[in-house]
Amino acid sequence: MSWQSPDGWHTDPAGVGNDFAGPRASVDNAMSDSRQRADNSADTVDLMTSTVDPLHTAIEPGILYFGTPVVLISTDNEDGSVNLAPMSSAFWLGWRAVIGLNARSKTTENLVRARECVLNLPSDAMAANVDRLALTTGSDPVPPVKVQRGYRFEPDKFGVAGLTPVASEVVGPPRVAECPVNLEAVVEDVRSLAAEDDVQRGKILVLELRIVRVHVHDDIRMEATNDRIDPDAWRPLIMSFQQLYGLGPRVHQSTLAQVPERLYRGPDIERARTL
Ligand SMILES: Cc1cc2nc3c(=O)[nH]c(=O)nc-3n(C[C@H](O)[C@H](O)[C@H](O)COP(=O)(O)O)c2cc1C
Repeated sequence: MSWQSPDGWHTDPAGVGNDFAGPRASVDNAMSDSRQRADNSADTVDLMTSTVDPLHTAIEPGILYFGTPVVLISTDNEDGSVNLAPMSSAFWLGWRAVIGLNARSKTTENLVRARECVLNLPSDAMAANVDRLALTTGSDPVPPVKVQRGYRFEPDKFGVAGLTPVASEVVGPPRVAECPVNLEAVVEDVRSLAAEDDVQRGKILVLELRIVRVHVHDDIRMEATNDRIDPDAWRPLIMSFQQLYGLGPRVHQSTLAQVPERLYRGPDIERARTL
């Protein structure tokens, strides 16, 4: 493949497309070109009007898991036993968490019925424990789609993962002792993803959880504070395209970090104290 931009910068001398000097070199070249382009408004107009984009290729990946923290959700089963499941479609806003779960998972059934759970965040040192829970389910029988993917029924998730249950303060399901972060939570809202699509409606649910207790290991607390987590000490386990990773070191000064954390404190914190 070869291409040439309207301004003639983006020539491919080897005629082998973006890989001619290895992926890193090609990105570096592209970024350096972008910087030059920013200095020259005429060239910027060229890129804006051209249908050729030398930096990207349109692709259709089966999944779009670009990297999110792994969460082990503990929930109570209807018979009083406990379930524990890994998931990673999760993010946080204030003292709320938004999670995405397959509607047929045991965890989802438990959350919809009992409306409480613990979000246990493993560190990157716990990757092996998490991996032992992969391809297991607390559902018996195993749903057909999971049979197809090689899942098995596992009634003792804590035992299989080599993890220790410890009592929660406010909710029924136990916390995971080894996880540096345990967030006790209640379900406030359940919605369907892709609700507009007849085929997909109801298959994946988006649950809004309100956090009611935050427990952390002392070694990830910011020194001399009782309300801060030290991001240099907290090493989350990250799932990216089905592989498990840790975080590298801090890569840049953060302008956002200049905003004092206390300015983010919302009413859910006061509300949680009443429980
Ligand atoms: C690292 C990891 C991340 C996962 N992330 C999700 C997720 O975000 N949402 C989901 O529905 N399932 C996710 N899964 C698959 C669930 O763990 C799987 O559906 C499991 O059977 C749920 O257990 P349960 O049926 O006992 O609730 C993930 C699995 C692993 C190992």
